Amino acid sequence: MSMTGIKGMNDILPGEVETWQFLESAARRVFALHGFSEIRVPVVEKTELFRRSIGETTDIVEKEMYTFVDKGGTSLTLRPEGTASVMRAFIEHKLYAADPVAKLYYMGPMFRYERPQKGRYRQFHQIGVEAVGVDDPRIDAQILAMLCQFFDDIGLDELELQINSLGCPECRPAYRRQLVAFLEARLGELCDDCRRRVTSNPLRVLDCKAAGCREATVEAPAMLDHLCGGCDDHFAEVRTHLDAVGTPYAVNRRMVRGLDYYTRTTFEMVTANLGAQNAVAAGGRYDGLVRELGGPALPGIGFAMGVERLALLLGDKRQARQSPALFVAALGDAAQGRAFVLMHQMQRQGLRVEIDYQGRSLKSQMRRADKLAAPLVLIIGEDELARGVGQLRFMADSSQREVALVELYETVVAELAGWSGAGQCP
Ligand code: HAM
Repeated sequence: MSMTGIKGMNDILPGEVETWQFLESAARRVFALHGFSEIRVPVVEKTELFRRSIGETTDIVEKEMYTFVDKGGTSLTLRPEGTASVMRAFIEHKLYAADPVAKLYYMGPMFRYERPQKGRYRQFHQIGVEAVGVDDPRIDAQILAMLCQFFDDIGLDELELQINSLGCPECRPAYRRQLVAFLEARLGELCDDCRRRVTSNPLRVLDCKAAGCREATVEAPAMLDHLCGGCDDHFAEVRTHLDAVGTPYAVNRRMVRGLDYYTRTTFEMVTANLGAQNAVAAGGRYDGLVRELGGPALPGIGFAMGVERLALLLGDKRQARQSPALFVAALGDAAQGRAFVLMHQMQRQGLRVEIDYQGRSLKSQMRRADKLAAPLVLIIGEDELARGVGQLRFMADSSQREVALVELYETVVAELAGWSGAGQCP
C-alpha cells in the first residue's frame, strides 16, 4: 500500500521552497526595521484558548478546528491562527512587565478543516505580527505601512489595502441591534446559515458570498456610520497618518472579519488574481483580547499573511533554485577522489560545488552540470592531475582555459564576480 499525504496539507518541495525562503527573509528584514522580534509558540494549545479568543459562534470554532483529546484527557486543538497563541504566551510570560510595548512576529503552520481549493488549505502557513500595548493610531498606520513595504519589497503589486472600523464594546451593541432589526425584516431572503447567524453572529451575514444574502444586505447599516466619538476619531487619525506617509487604501464599509476579537481598525490586503480566496493578508485591532484571556487591559493590533497565497501570486516572478558555482567533472578514480577534496575545500570557503557520484562519462557529467545551471565546470583527468591543473569551462560560451588547482578558489571567485550570486550560500 502506498502512503499519501492528507488532503489539503501540502508538501513544499525543492524548487518551491526557495520562494518560501525568499518570503520569510523579506518579512524578517522588514519586521526588524520596524522593531519586531520573533516569537515561537507551540502548534497545539488547549481548545479553550481558541474558543475564548476567536469566538464560539465563528466558523473557525464551530466547524473548522482540529480538536482531539490527548491521553491525559485534555482537549487540545491544532492552532487555527497565531494571535491567540501569541497572546497566551505574552500573558503567561508577562512580557508587558519587561517592556510596555511588545512587537512580535511569528511564522508557521496553521490548521483549519476547510474545503480545500486553490489558495485554501487545511494546513496553511502564516507570517504574522502582533503589537501589544499601544492604542495610538500611529501604530495602526505603521503596521499597515509595514505591510505595504513588504509587498513592495517582494515585487507584488495589483493589491488593494482595504480598511474599516468595527467599533468597540461601547458603540457596537447599538449597531448590532440595528443590524439585527434590518436582517430580521429580510429573513426570507437569507441563506440557511445566515438565518441562524442573525441571532448568533449578525455581522457575519455581511460577509456571506451567497448572491441572495448579498442582495438582501446592499442597504444594510454600516458600523462606520455608528461609531462612538472615540472610535470615529481613532479611525480618522489612522487615515490621516496613512495619507501622511503615502500609503494608499480604500475604505470598505462592508468588511467584517471571521474572528470575534476585533475592535476598531480592521483591514485586508486583497487581490483580484486568486479567485474566491482574495485575501492575501488580514488583521486588525483587538483591544479587549489580552484582558479576555486573563492578562492586563492592554490594546493590540496585528495581521497575518497567507504564505501559500503569496507564493501563488509570486508564481514565476522568482527564479527558483540557486545554481552551484562550479561543477567538477572528473574522469578516473584518482581524479574523482581529488574532485571530492576540491569540493570539500571550496564548500568550507563558502562556495556551492557539485560533483558526480556515479563515475559517469564526461558527456553525462556535462549534461548534469548543464541541468544544475552551473556557470563553470572544472574538468580533471589523470593527465591534468599529474600536472596540478584542470580545464575550466565557461558554460555560457563553451570556451575553456587551463587553471592551476591550487588557485582554483580564487579563480572561480574572480570569474563569478558580477555574476548573479550563483553558489553563494546565504
Ligand atoms: P485570518 O483572516 O483568518 O486572520 O487569516 C489571515 C490570512 O491567512 C488570510 O488572509 C489568508 O491569506 C490566510 N489564510 C487563512 N485561512 C487560510 C487557508 N485555509 N488556506 C490558506 N490561507 C489561509 C487571522 O488568522 C488573524 N490571526 C490575523 C491577525 C493577526 N489579526 C490580528 N493579528
